[in-house]
Amino acid sequence: MPLVIAVDGPAAAGKGTLARRLAAALGLPYLDTGLLYRATGRRVLGHGADPRDPAAAEAAARGLTPADLARADLRGPEADMAASAVAAIPVVRTALLDWQRDFGRRHGAVLDGRDIGTVVFPEAPVKLFVTASPEERARRRFLELRARGAAADPAQVLAELQARDEQDSRRAVAPLVPAADAAVLDTTALDAEAAFAAAMAVITERLREV
Ligand code: DC
Repeated sequence: MPLVIAVDGPAAAGKGTLARRLAAALGLPYLDTGLLYRATGRRVLGHGADPRDPAAAEAAARGLTPADLARADLRGPEADMAASAVAAIPVVRTALLDWQRDFGRRHGAVLDGRDIGTVVFPEAPVKLFVTASPEERARRRFLELRARGAAADPAQVLAELQARDEQDSRRAVAPLVPAADAAVLDTTALDAEAAFAAAMAVITERLREV
């Protein structure tokens, strides 16, 4: 199988920035799997339904189109919580599984999400679990929101982040948890450059072992 690198971790830990950079450096396609859940949540909201409703969420997941993934309103508190809600529904996860596996198997890939190393690609030779303290992750998310011109309150950003992490960690199916063979990368004190260097060191070492 072509090279698959799994990048998992909680919200706003820097997974996306890191995964995108790794993909570019290694010449691999990149997939932000959170977008699939975000687009599913948005479709459910667009139909006036509840993102916790399994039938509505499954239909939305099965009907996803490339246009849904390109929507401009997939970020922000409402989209965050809708994504986390649909992601807790087993039939939604099943509906999105083959698509993610096909993407990775075609040419290899760097995929970021919550369950890439545990469920989507348990056989991936390289798994990174990227994390940072809740306060640091909230700080980064706050700066990101502000840069986009969105009004944000630091305390509220932290509270929402923790609520979402809890929902993603406590769900019965594919909860947010490091794979037993994942390398944990704590980026609390690392900037993007240092996180990239640390990740490349892990990848080089893991690939030497396989
Ligand atoms: O990575 P993100 O913040 O864009 O993800 C949005 C939500 O989607 C997140 O709260 C949990 C869910 N998700 C998931 O359950 N599994 C994934 N592989 C990716 C995201």
